[in-house]
Amino acid sequence: MHQITTREDLRRRVSGWKRAGELVALVPTMGNLHAGHLSLVDAAREAADRVVVSVFVNPTQFGAGEDYTTYPRTLDADRQLLEVRGVDLLFAPDVGTMYPEGTAKGARIQVPALEGMLCALSRPGHFSGVATVVAKLFNLVAPDRAYFGLKDYQQLLVIQHMVRDLSMPVEVIGVETVRAPDGLALSSRNGYLSPDDRARAPWLNKVLADAATALQQGERDFTALENTASKALIQAGLEPDYVAIRRPDDLLRPGVGEHAFIVLGAARLGGTRLIDNVTVTTA
Ligand code: PAJ
Repeated sequence: MHQITTREDLRRRVSGWKRAGELVALVPTMGNLHAGHLSLVDAAREAADRVVVSVFVNPTQFGAGEDYTTYPRTLDADRQLLEVRGVDLLFAPDVGTMYPEGTAKGARIQVPALEGMLCALSRPGHFSGVATVVAKLFNLVAPDRAYFGLKDYQQLLVIQHMVRDLSMPVEVIGVETVRAPDGLALSSRNGYLSPDDRARAPWLNKVLADAATALQQGERDFTALENTASKALIQAGLEPDYVAIRRPDDLLRPGVGEHAFIVLGAARLGGTRLIDNVTVTTA
């Protein structure tokens, strides 16, 4: 595995592969890799000739007061995990390489259809920062495919909309959420939880799964289900940000007679914000 930090090195290596007709997959990450990230890497490894993993803690997707400076940076451990997984190239640029124009004045990508709802409400500018850095990575790597986790569902849709709306020649693939045995979705931020909060954290998944079961059983009072779920979170000691039942393709409220739903939730535990979702398809 090669570790590369400059745009020129990256271009040189990937263009050699492309000339040879090899299929190139990209897995963008912020590092501190866990089994969730590695499942994306495995999916990419299975489908592509060459796998590029980026590790970059992207400043433009963190809001004021968020954890940009304290976000866990563990590049040596990440490199070892990726090496074992058969990754071809680790791209770990610094901020100046990704944002030669600076982080304030450069061009930005917006996906308005997915702003003003769910995580975008409590994290203004977040998805624009994500879309912008992913667009830059797509332009630098020019992958045929890119892999994203379903855990960050709104993020996955933002990327899919960006690619569709801007005619980017990349196939975006969503990968199932990897969970701890007690149901908690793996996340680099789980490391912030105290033992007490870690014991409470699986309630987020449990409460969303209960709402999904009710939908499966025919309940269609979405507001009542959301309220019940929020109350259950509060009772378990979590501070709900939202629980929302939406359509999987555009995250709008489902209409009467629809059969596909996604139950999304975000909640705070101590200073840590957790997100999760469960999809439901009824007959
Ligand atoms: P990061 O949080 O490091 O996540 C990188 C990728 O791993 C994302 O696509 C995320 O959805 C996926 N992922 C995280 N936890 C997962 C889990 N438990 N199961 C399956 N997949 C999981 O998401 C980002 O970084 C950044 O926003 C990024 C897209 C890299 C842009 O900076």
